[in-house]
Amino acid sequence: MSHRFPDDFTFGVATSAYQVEGGIENDWSQWERLGRLKDKDARCGRGVEHWERFEADLSLVQELGAHAYRISLEWARIEPRYGEFDAVAIAGYRKRLEAMRARGIRPIVTLHHFTNPQWLHVQCGWHTPAVLEPWRRYAKVCAELLDGLGAAVITFNEPMVFGLGGYLHGVMPPGLKDAKSAAVVVENIARAHVIAREELLLRSKSVTCGIAQHLTVFAPERRWHPLDQALTRIAEENFNHALLRALTTGDLELRMPAVMKHKRRIDGARDSMEFLGVNYYTRAHLKFVARPPFIEFAFKDVNRRGLTDIGWEDYPEGFLQVLKEVKRYRLPVWVTENGIDDREGSRRPSFIYQHLRALLDARADGVDVRAYLHWSLLDNFEWLEAWGPRFGLYRVDFQTLERTPTTAVKYFRQVATSRQLEPP
Ligand code: FCB
Repeated sequence: MSHRFPDDFTFGVATSAYQVEGGIENDWSQWERLGRLKDKDARCGRGVEHWERFEADLSLVQELGAHAYRISLEWARIEPRYGEFDAVAIAGYRKRLEAMRARGIRPIVTLHHFTNPQWLHVQCGWHTPAVLEPWRRYAKVCAELLDGLGAAVITFNEPMVFGLGGYLHGVMPPGLKDAKSAAVVVENIARAHVIAREELLLRSKSVTCGIAQHLTVFAPERRWHPLDQALTRIAEENFNHALLRALTTGDLELRMPAVMKHKRRIDGARDSMEFLGVNYYTRAHLKFVARPPFIEFAFKDVNRRGLTDIGWEDYPEGFLQVLKEVKRYRLPVWVTENGIDDREGSRRPSFIYQHLRALLDARADGVDVRAYLHWSLLDNFEWLEAWGPRFGLYRVDFQTLERTPTTAVKYFRQVATSRQLEPP
């Protein structure tokens, strides 16, 4: 195995608007007030004030030796009321993106990272085709905002997590529990991806556009059990691959035997990505249960490395596995998220080392991996888990909001600048 990253390999970091910016009112803020987080009293509120501290935080990106920074645009900030766009917010994003460019940091911009304006659920919702109309308007505004910045665009972050979390398991807004609606959400996201790409292409001859797909390694809880085995295959097909197939071939097919089948041709979706974004964290063991949604998952410490603090398996072997699996799409692969909830800050350097080793193994195996964006630059608001987890390369004191480097900062910088992978 080579220990070297090629000169054009991109090292970067990632955040998303709602998790760090602060001062955003959207469907998650509403969800928090409804007491739907694990800690019913937790609020995102001021986030970690990334909106105000953007310039200082860019210095942290540079301190890491990173040359790319993935942020997201907050739809609710840009269009706080249905049909009303906020020029100040739009200019604010533009200014921040220009600041990145001025420092030689390439912007990678997500248009949709889980959150929606609250009005969206009143007007339409992702489970109705009506969503595509306001989406096109928003995408057009984003295309204008990004014009000339040379940003790469991730239209959607983890569409399957969003679709299943919000419309099947009901643990994210809007909290529906309906397999058919969840399937329609995935279809609409595929269509919305095409729409966003059209709007971007109206502004510029060439675009660099993809999605960030959450890829999980699945395994049967009871290795011998035919239903657990069948679920594993269903999860791999539907959760990991169906959407990627739709955006490369144009055909979407979602299928859960006896529950739901959804087959659609998505016009314009064929070959609609310049890169494939991979978010990788862990492996899940699946078990069949006799009530909807018929599936239970658990994280097991199979290799006795210790679960991460959020309770996920630390499984770098799975990273190699999923990277090899996406070779079939014949697209450049960008790792758009990978990271660890490490509240002491002691495990992160070796986590990064193990995962970058897997990445280099994948490259040696012919997978065209061109970027690694670590999740995350800063500790932040972790959705249902709110302020418990710490994914940041920089630790944030949630009282004073002071940022301090974890031990992984030095390590990341050393790898990113030397382009050599040595153990920490
Ligand atoms: C991913 C999300 C990201 C963050 C990490 C830990 O699923 O895309 O926002 O919450 O998990």
